[in-house]
Amino acid sequence: MSVLSGKNVLLGVSAGIAAYKTAGLVRLFIKAGANVQVVMTPASKDFVTPLTLSTLSQNPVYSTFYDKKDDNGLWNSHVDLALQADLMLIAPATANTMAKMADGNVDNLLLATYLSAKAKVYFAPAMDLDMFQHPSTKHNIQKLQSYGNIFIPPASGFLASGLMGEGRMAEPEDIIKFIEDDMTQSLPLKGKKVMITAGPTYEAIDPVRFIGNHSSGKMGFALAQQAANMGAEVVLIAGPSDEKINSSFINRINVISADDMYKVTHQYFKDMDIAIFAAAVADYSPAVVAGQKIKKKDASLHIDLKPTQDILASVGKIKEHQYLVGFALETNDELENAKSKLKRKNLDLIVLNSLKDKGAGFKLDTNKITLIDSNEKITSFELKSKKEVASDIFKEIIKKLHV
Ligand code: CTP
Repeated sequence: MSVLSGKNVLLGVSAGIAAYKTAGLVRLFIKAGANVQVVMTPASKDFVTPLTLSTLSQNPVYSTFYDKKDDNGLWNSHVDLALQADLMLIAPATANTMAKMADGNVDNLLLATYLSAKAKVYFAPAMDLDMFQHPSTKHNIQKLQSYGNIFIPPASGFLASGLMGEGRMAEPEDIIKFIEDDMTQSLPLKGKKVMITAGPTYEAIDPVRFIGNHSSGKMGFALAQQAANMGAEVVLIAGPSDEKINSSFINRINVISADDMYKVTHQYFKDMDIAIFAAAVADYSPAVVAGQKIKKKDASLHIDLKPTQDILASVGKIKEHQYLVGFALETNDELENAKSKLKRKNLDLIVLNSLKDKGAGFKLDTNKITLIDSNEKITSFELKSKKEVASDIFKEIIKKLHV
């Protein structure tokens, strides 16, 4: 899966012959799973039509601050366009557009949008070789880089002028690869290995029955997805769960019982940098699993239960460099119980959920958490989606690890 998947890309097109290549660029972004919004300079419409780009991007294309034919007073807000973007790419970036970007000129919608952009901006210059060699162009490129914009170098080859040399806009495939590589490099968990346990465990009573719990796995799966989005290589050890996940950076290993989860966890733990235990592991399992289906009788039935191994506590005993995170689901004396679990299991961080909080707990898409670190520093969060909670948890871990 591409790092561009799900990202909002703002593509700014300025007036160079290479603008015809933006049709290919839009297609490649869409193929990578991105959503593309195109903004054009008015002159660039002579090189590629808005209809082509709106059809390929499946979004309206903007090139003016408002629609002159329209009296309804609606304007194309450059601020909204800029704020919605996860990244902006200006391709082709002509000498003229780069000069205006460098000077903060705002005489068209593309420039106003660029100036409002908070996301990372990439620019792919395209011009004739002498224009590219001119000191003012070099100076403008340096100026743009000093503002934090990322320069995608042009290629050498045949130019529209008939001359040969440097100035040709990088090919769409190379631009996409450049951006993907850059985004991957700057991911905060790049090169890190992360283990997540998720979901319930089922403890067999006989071949058809088990002892389980209401955990859906949603929190653990959201953590796995977030870790992958931040560049980590993820091992997701999941008990029985209907949740789906699809990423080449996530190795999902399905387990059923606490005992299976224990074995798989120990198989992988030593290699991990971060391990988060979000699973609701059964604390007891039947001492004897009946080989045949237990038949109904009139008398009451007693099942002898033996304690399962505490997986988290067992890795807490052997941890070396690993950053270890546990969950605590409590109904009373929440902070005290969570702090004692943090110590008892030798954790670096514990995520406390209280069943008293509305919107927190099993099966829901939301959660309300409190984080407690090994210095007993407490940070409380609002009720949020599990996706946002996963992001908060990793932000805290990254702060602690200084990665
Ligand atoms: N945990 C585990 N293995 C177990 C039980 C719990 O790895 N056999 C982990 C959970 O994944 C969670 C943490 O330990 O990260 C705390 O789980 P919780 O059920 O809240 O605590 P328990 O230690 O089981 O204590 P109690 O049920 O008495 O509250």
